Amino acid sequence: MPEITKSGILNAIKKIDDKNFNKNSLTLNSIKKIEREGNSLTVDISIPALNKETNFDYNIIADVIKKEFPELDDIHLNVQQRVSTISTHKDPKKEAILPGVKNTIAVASGKGGVGKSTVAVNLAVALAKDGAKVGLIDADIYGPSIPLMLGIKDKPNVVQDDGKVRLIPLDAFGLKMISIGLLVDDNAPIIWRGPMASGAIKQFMTDVAWGELDYLVFDMPPGTGDIQLTLVQTIPLTGAVIVTTPQEVSLIDARKALKMFERVNVPVLGLIENMSYFIAPDTKNRYDIFGTGGGERVSKELNVPFLGGIPINPQIREGGDKGIPIVFDIPDSNESDIIMDISRNLNERVNIRNLNAPGKVEILLGDDD
Ligand SMILES: Nc1ncnc2c1ncn2[C@@H]1O[C@H](COP(=O)(O)OP(=O)(O)OP(=O)(O)O)[C@@H](O)[C@H]1O
Ligand SMILES: [Mg+2]
Repeated sequence: MPEITKSGILNAIKKIDDKNFNKNSLTLNSIKKIEREGNSLTVDISIPALNKETNFDYNIIADVIKKEFPELDDIHLNVQQRVSTISTHKDPKKEAILPGVKNTIAVASGKGGVGKSTVAVNLAVALAKDGAKVGLIDADIYGPSIPLMLGIKDKPNVVQDDGKVRLIPLDAFGLKMISIGLLVDDNAPIIWRGPMASGAIKQFMTDVAWGELDYLVFDMPPGTGDIQLTLVQTIPLTGAVIVTTPQEVSLIDARKALKMFERVNVPVLGLIENMSYFIAPDTKNRYDIFGTGGGERVSKELNVPFLGGIPINPQIREGGDKGIPIVFDIPDSNESDIIMDISRNLNERVNIRNLNAPGKVEILLGDDD
């Protein structure tokens, strides 16, 4: 009987022909473990996270293995879904500042209070739950809210790194985070001048020990001001995500934010509509408090992908206030499902963007833990 090896199994899986299954991102490393007992085989496999709507039946994987090794009677698959990241093209400016970071994503909006920080935090946790290494920069120097939303009060330590003193980002819910809110007292009034705020955001990139990350997410302040400009001038971002609410006053500002990123050559990876609707907990009736379909309409109009819509739910707000993001706190809720899907849509957009970016790309799937 031929020996059943990781490469044998990988070759079998690569024969799958299904548009919903991205076999190109599988490597030997994707097969985590194989265990054989007589004619029974157990395979632990790590594959790209799929969206809820994607119809792919994992039994197909067991079927192709069975076909390749007909002597097996019994195949147990343990599928671990994780994000697959394709490293962005090697830009010299980015390499000099953030050499270990594959992708940088700004979560932005034109208008304030639409839920950028809530979305940024939950997206970051969602990506981390799918196995990505994620960092989060609270780029809202004037009104940092990430420490509250992640329930962090500690001051970051410093480390001597490559002869340079760097801040160590704080750990929360599987991600790394830095915020001006950790460095200055909550209640102390600070009058930031534009250059100081820009300096702080730069330092969050240059003077923090980020190490290796698949994603570095920036929670941006509202609008299109100094901080946005500083960010795009410091490193070429992988892309921006625009958060909007469905009503026209918010959409007008979303269009402006979109145009600003286009003007500075930052690809807009997609639009997320927040506070899309409200489902009454008692009657389950749906109320479109801020109107309906606005986000999708603007996406079509400006030709950017629509990544999804998140309902208004008091549990989302409570998660922010108590410092436990809903995707972590109530993982089996409909809201968490929606946010996980949006994060997978985003991951897909990032991979598509990187495949089309000039320069060298390498496809990587889930490094060993
Ligand atoms: N989908 C939602 N359901 C319920 N509450 C939400 C939702 N999204 C955001 N919120 C709440 O709305 C408020 C504003 O959200 P958040 O602070 O994330 O907005 P922001 O766009 O980052 O604001 P700013 O422009 O001030 O940075 C917060 O109290 C948050 O908990
Ligand atoms: Mg905010």
